[in-house]
Amino acid sequence: MTVVGIGADGWDGLTGAARAALREAEVVVGGARQLGLLPAECGAQRVVWPSPLRPAVPGVLAAHADRRVAVLASGDPLFYGIGRALTEELGAERLRVLPHPSSVAYACARLGWPVEDTEVVTAVGRPVARLAAALHDGRRVLVLSAGAGTPAEVAELLRDRGFGPSRMSVLERLGGAEERRVEGTAQTWPHPAGDALNVVGVECRWDGVTPRLGAVPGLPDGAYESDGQLTKRHVRAATLGALAPAPGELLWDVGGGSGSVGVEWMRTHPSCRAVAVERDAERAGRIARNAERLGVPGLRVVRGTAPEALAGLPVPDAVFVGGGLTTPGLLDACWDALPAGGRLVANTVTLESEALLAERYRRHGGDLVRLAVAHAVPVGGFTGWRQAMPVTQWAVVKSPRPSGELPA
Ligand SMILES: C[S@@+](CC[C@H](N)C(=O)[O-])C[C@H]1O[C@@H](n2cnc3c(N)ncnc32)[C@H](O)[C@@H]1O
Repeated sequence: MTVVGIGADGWDGLTGAARAALREAEVVVGGARQLGLLPAECGAQRVVWPSPLRPAVPGVLAAHADRRVAVLASGDPLFYGIGRALTEELGAERLRVLPHPSSVAYACARLGWPVEDTEVVTAVGRPVARLAAALHDGRRVLVLSAGAGTPAEVAELLRDRGFGPSRMSVLERLGGAEERRVEGTAQTWPHPAGDALNVVGVECRWDGVTPRLGAVPGLPDGAYESDGQLTKRHVRAATLGALAPAPGELLWDVGGGSGSVGVEWMRTHPSCRAVAVERDAERAGRIARNAERLGVPGLRVVRGTAPEALAGLPVPDAVFVGGGLTTPGLLDACWDALPAGGRLVANTVTLESEALLAERYRRHGGDLVRLAVAHAVPVGGFTGWRQAMPVTQWAVVKSPRPSGELPA
């Protein structure tokens, strides 16, 4: 099967190899708009993808299994395109992919931005809120729009997160005869909504007033909406260090509170995932708001009491226990859910939970540490230390040894 990337310039913009593949195909599958770009000389049967597309892919492929099939894709088929579904269904070795420049390649060409210095955030089928995690003064971000309304949503988000001075370039119908560019700043948007096919280039400019959020864990406590149930900044930074997120990994944040640990886990890489489990309904709602505001709207919130609420969750790479340590069966359930090599980190400020962690430390090893943070505060005309409650933290990597067996 050949997958042919096609742009707004249609047949004229295709390479010789792409044209040959389409001429020789017995069946061409694509979106109605893409199929409409083919000239009459392509005599193949034309099949329009049903909607919704993804569940229909296996059926369409099976229906034409014994014929020469070409699939039309928009731009680069393996960049947020149909190429992903086709490699999942058929395997990469059964596909020949002929890419066309992607919307990102076109947009960077028009803006004069090096592609490797450009962050890409997609709003297609996902919330624009993810852009918030990519906002850093001086960075260039391209937003792949879901439609004509996306530029106004981007502008609103930028204003709301302290990036109103950012320059926005809306690039419509890239590569086509009706290509158009609209410029402005987030502050002074909206321009009238334009074409549904557009990409938004953002040159991030921070307003210098809104609290600045860095790229590493340990965001200021004020970045979170909270009722006080919040792992504070310095302990949080140490906690994320021990959890050691890597791209693509899944965290369970058990006793999510305000959600800060799951939020900061997910902010380390767009492919990181987290599930926050929180028994209190009000706090569960707050976790979702914090996740949305800080650019990780994909954080899953499970409202329920652990360990029961953990049943059926996908296998984690790491578990953080921030609350509920003394709930019977909770720590065992977290430990049992972890695969070998998985990490567990548990924090507590109470003696009862600390005793539990000391016993686990004896059994499984790891690091048992006490984090005592003090802040300088005014004392009369002088300055003194105000000590926060010390936090006991147990951090351990689960070894392949069966649980309960004493270390040698
Ligand atoms: C200290 S807070 C965690 C703070 C959190 N790491 C943060 O930074 O926002 C502990 C939370 O655990 C929740 N909790 C306690 N026991 C629980 C259980 N068995 N299941 C689910 N949540 C629980 C409490 O409602 C509370 O919100």
